[in-house]
Amino acid sequence: MKPKTGTPFAPGDACLLYDAKGRRYLIELIAGRNFHSHRGALAHDDIIGSPEGASLETTNGTFLTALRPRLSDFVLKMSRGATVLYPKDAASLLMWADIGPGMTVLEAGTGSGGLTMVLARAVGPTGRLVSIERREDHAKLARSRIAGYFGEVPDWVDLRIGEVSDVAEDVGPERIVLDLPDPWEMVPTAAAVLPGGGGFACYVPNVPQVEAVRSAMEEAGCFIETATFEVMMRDWSISGRSVRPSHRMIGHTGFITVGRKILKDA
Ligand SMILES: C[S@@+](CC[C@H](N)C(=O)[O-])C[C@H]1O[C@@H](n2cnc3c(N)ncnc32)[C@H](O)[C@@H]1O
Repeated sequence: MKPKTGTPFAPGDACLLYDAKGRRYLIELIAGRNFHSHRGALAHDDIIGSPEGASLETTNGTFLTALRPRLSDFVLKMSRGATVLYPKDAASLLMWADIGPGMTVLEAGTGSGGLTMVLARAVGPTGRLVSIERREDHAKLARSRIAGYFGEVPDWVDLRIGEVSDVAEDVGPERIVLDLPDPWEMVPTAAAVLPGGGGFACYVPNVPQVEAVRSAMEEAGCFIETATFEVMMRDWSISGRSVRPSHRMIGHTGFITVGRKILKDA
């Protein structure tokens, strides 16, 4: 599992290097390898054994600070195939889909594994996460990224290749979380397999997709607390007496829709 904060780096650890300008580089530590940037080279062997937070001198005489990446850093910096869910959206989704330790969650599609890591950490070892992906190439990459962050694929995470509709009943999820293009197709299945009080959540980038999923939920007739929202996050730039919103922001990512299952004929 991910090493304890502050402990020395070991081979295989993910490491985020910061330069003096705040630029960040994500690397996996491999004995004998060198990291190169315009600020000079730094041997991985110099980082291995150093405590997290140490500043290490490059061949140019400048310094790089080594930290283990936060999950948000890792998800945004890792090389990937499918577009990942942004941390601001993943964080909100956890709260509004009410996902926590010990729960059984079904996720699709795994994509690059970004949201999978967030869900895996949320349900923890007492929970179970089944994440399903229809594309073998995406599934393979996601597996290696998830192992890269946690050290190995956590044993409560079950990564599968296939169609989400084929596994939903067997999994018996308390929560279904979808980041795929046509979540409305899964609404009847979610209505059938979720227990009373169970949660359905999906993320889509476009308005017609929101309309389709909300219509399907309405038609199913067994969801309450339905809500659709987007999350806007604006960074602030703080430098001496200049304190103001940043000039740039991520303008649009997508819409999160949630709902809770009720028992229609109870
Ligand atoms: C946008 S990506 C998911 C990204 C992921 N949330 C992340 O943070 O890395 C959507 C993925 O869903 C997969 N997919 C689409 N429909 C699917 C289905 N019915 N069953 C399983 N996977 C599906 C696609 O192949 C694609 O990899």
